Amino acid sequence: MPAERGDFKTKLGIILATAGSAVGLGNIWRFPYMTGQDGGAAFILVYIACVLMLGIPGVISEFIVGRHASANAVRAYRNLGNGRPWHLLGMLGILTSTIILGFYAVVAGWCLQYLYAAITAQLSGDTQYVVKYFHEFSTNPVWPTLWAVAFILITHTIVVKGVRNGIEKASNMMMPTLFVLLLVIVVAACTLPGSMEGVKFLFKPDFSKLTHNVFLDALGQAFFSLSLGTACLCTYASYFSRQTNLAKSACQIALLDTLIAILAGLMIFPAAFSVGVEPDSGPALIFITLPSVFQQAFGAIPLLGYVIGILFYAMLSLAALTSTISMHEIGTAYFYEEYHITRRKGAWIQTAIGCTLTIACSLSMGDIDGLHFFGKSFLDWCDFITGQIMLPTGAFFTCIFVGWYIPKKIVVDEFTNWGTLRGTFLGIYLFAVRFVCPLCILAVFFHQLGFI
Ligand code: TRP
Repeated sequence: MPAERGDFKTKLGIILATAGSAVGLGNIWRFPYMTGQDGGAAFILVYIACVLMLGIPGVISEFIVGRHASANAVRAYRNLGNGRPWHLLGMLGILTSTIILGFYAVVAGWCLQYLYAAITAQLSGDTQYVVKYFHEFSTNPVWPTLWAVAFILITHTIVVKGVRNGIEKASNMMMPTLFVLLLVIVVAACTLPGSMEGVKFLFKPDFSKLTHNVFLDALGQAFFSLSLGTACLCTYASYFSRQTNLAKSACQIALLDTLIAILAGLMIFPAAFSVGVEPDSGPALIFITLPSVFQQAFGAIPLLGYVIGILFYAMLSLAALTSTISMHEIGTAYFYEEYHITRRKGAWIQTAIGCTLTIACSLSMGDIDGLHFFGKSFLDWCDFITGQIMLPTGAFFTCIFVGWYIPKKIVVDEFTNWGTLRGTFLGIYLFAVRFVCPLCILAVFFHQLGFI
């Protein structure tokens, strides 16, 4: 093992760093707009069921592979693969997270731009103006690209410092800050007149809205939000200690992730309902609907709208950063360990690949012809191929690998920390990972491809 490999120092560090990977734009951007589109409380209940049934067993499985090997994803799968090409699964994970890094950094760059716009008071309450602002900004060939590259470079400066001094320290500072910012905005939003309609929308289920679409949307969202199926959790688990309780940590991380997603809803919907905006505007919710919602809702008190806008985009940028760190680390760990180079060089290789992809993704939002294929932009393709094909494939085979292929003794040992924990839920976990998860993932997969 290279001397510079490192590990997490404290239990809290493990939870915050891994939850940092899980908590991101998926929670604060994607979860609220899906909840808005898919009918509110009923979607949330289904989502929670998915996290419990599929998310937690999936997270534990990746933890088992990662901690067993204490190595990057490719080596981890190869170690347990017994000569069969299971390392390809590790490769797939690394590839998936690197592509995700490419388009995720574009949206993260938009967050930085909006943070800047909020600070310089460029976002007004006029909806027409914000629509125009977003369109002009996101299709501009220069600025969004620079912000996206800047985001990857910021990520680089943290990852390059290593697991304890970089990732763990940054997460220990950023995650509590994020949580406090979120709570401040939630409290402000829930005290607005008319905000209770939004709270009701989130917590009073209307089961007539449940279609099988909602069920499968929730499943896909649970994957993405927990960073499942992309070797991310496996890489982080390779820095866990032998005392880390894998099942308990998985539950804590899933709980934090879900809590933050619901809090994000509790921040957005009350504010939207209080100014009479329907929360079903889709992906544009955060960049088009919200700036004017905040201005209108909080505008009555001087400066409050301004401050809330800044806090919101600062929080969004922080959430995105703890996630891009994890996507970056997966590739970095692979490069420096497998090619016997320094961590610094490994990180630069990942940064170079990430920047190339992100530049292509960002430019594809403009009118550049070469970056559109079959009517979709390069960015949309990256999103589609990773989210709908690579991620479910990775998660599916990880379940098969841990549930059916590797010796059961290894699974039991890792689950119970070599017999020192009771392992009360071992039976349930094994059943989930062998039967429930693979079947559900197949269902999502075929649904997303339009077969069911
Ligand atoms: N889970 C993150 C979110 O909700 C996204 C994320 C972070 C991710 N790391 C990942 C997704 C690795 C896939 C792979 O925003």
